Amino acid sequence: MNIRTIRIGVVGLGTVGAALVESLQANAGIIRADVGAEVVIARIAEKDATRRKSIHAPGTVLSLDWRDLVADRDIDIVVELMGGTSAARDLVLASLRAGKHVITANKALLANHWTEVLTEAHKAGRAVGFEASVMAGVPVIHVLQSGLSGHRISAISGILNGTSNFILTRIGENGVDRRQALEEARQKGFCEADPSLDLEGFDAAQKLAILGSLVLGRWLPPQDVHREGIGNLEKEDLLEARNSFGYVLKPLAILKRRATGVEARVQPTFLDKRSPLAEVSREFNALLIESDAAGPITLIGKGAGGAPAASGVLADIVEIARRIRHADSGASVPRLPRPGPVHVLPYDQLESRFFLRFTVCDRPGVLSKIFRCLSSERISIANSEIRNTPDGATGLVYAATYRTHAKAVRKALKTIDVQPALVKRKTLMVPIQE
Ligand code: HSE
Repeated sequence: MNIRTIRIGVVGLGTVGAALVESLQANAGIIRADVGAEVVIARIAEKDATRRKSIHAPGTVLSLDWRDLVADRDIDIVVELMGGTSAARDLVLASLRAGKHVITANKALLANHWTEVLTEAHKAGRAVGFEASVMAGVPVIHVLQSGLSGHRISAISGILNGTSNFILTRIGENGVDRRQALEEARQKGFCEADPSLDLEGFDAAQKLAILGSLVLGRWLPPQDVHREGIGNLEKEDLLEARNSFGYVLKPLAILKRRATGVEARVQPTFLDKRSPLAEVSREFNALLIESDAAGPITLIGKGAGGAPAASGVLADIVEIARRIRHADSGASVPRLPRPGPVHVLPYDQLESRFFLRFTVCDRPGVLSKIFRCLSSERISIANSEIRNTPDGATGLVYAATYRTHAKAVRKALKTIDVQPALVKRKTLMVPIQE
C-alpha cells in the first residue's frame, strides 16, 4: 500500500502531551525509518490557551475541541491525553466509531471501562494502544500482550506508583519530610492532578486492574483490588524497620492466582533490604512476572514523568503506524474479556508475616497484655524492639510476626486498639513480603 503520511491527532497538552510533541519531533528520522512513512501530528486539541501557546508545532492545526479531531477524516490515530473518565470516554468511543485507531495513557478510563472500550475496538476493527497507562516508559503491556502470549502467568508483583515510591524513598533519607517529598514529586511532574490518587493507592489499583484484566482475560474492576495508602507510615517507622529489622518499605501491587481465587492488593509492604525490589527507588517502577515457561522476569524503569510516559505513547504510535502502512488488518487489541467476575479473595485470607507498631502507655504489664492478645490468636512474634518517644510517657513497640493470617492479626488488634489503658492510637499493621 502506498501510504506516505500517517496523521496523528493529540488531545491534551499536559505534561505527557507536551513531552510527546517533543519526542515525535526529536525522533522524526527514526520513526520515519521504522514505519516507512511520515508520521505527523496533524491536529492538537487543547482548551488551555497558555498550553497551546507554549507548544512549537509548525504545520499542526490547533483546536479547542476534541470533536474537531474525530470529525477530521484524514486523522488515522487519535491520542487521548486529556485525562478524566467522562469526556475521555466519549472521545475514545467516538474515535473508534469513526474508524480511527486510539492510543491512551488514561489508566482510570481503561480500568473502569475495560470491557466497553475493548468491545468497541473489536467492533470497529481498530487498535487500542495503552502502553503508557501502566509503568509509563517500561514496555510492560507489550511484554504481557505479545512477549508472553500463550503463557500462563501465575503472579505479578511490583511497584506501580512512582509518586509513592519517590516519597517513601525521600522520607527514608535524612532531612526530608512527607510534605517536602510530595512537593518535589509534584514539581517533577510525577503526581496525578489530585495527588491523593497516588498517596491512597487508587492510581496503583487502577494499574493493577489493567494488568490483572490482561493476565486473567477477564475484567478486574479496580474497586475489587484491596487498597491501602502510604499515609500511616512515619519516617521513624521506616528508619526503625530498616535499622533494627533489615526491612525497606515499598508501595507494592500484587496479583496472584491461588487455588480458591485471585489475590489482588495494593499496599505498603516491607521487603528484605537485600531483595531486588528494595533497590528500586524514587520514581522508578518494577514488575516481577512469574509465568510457566519463561520463569521469573523483572522489568524496571521510570514509571512517572512526562518523557517516560510519552515514550509508551510513542511506541504505540510506531506500532500502529506500521500496521497502517502495511495494511495489516489484525488490529492490536487485547482479546475480549470473558464474562463474569474475577473471584478476588478477601484480604483476611492473606497469609503473611506482619510488621506491627504499637504506641503503648507507660504502665506495668502493658506489653504482656498485648502479647497475650496476640498469642490468643495464635500469632507468634519473631522479633521485637521497644523505643521511648521523646516525651518519655509513651513507648513504641515494633514487632515482626511469624507467618499468620491477616484475619488473626486484625482480630487481635481489634481487642488491643479499643483499650486506652494499653495503646494511645491505632496499631500499624504492614505485611512483610517473603
Ligand atoms: N502519578 C503516576 C505515578 C504517574 O506517580 O506513578 C504515572 O502513571
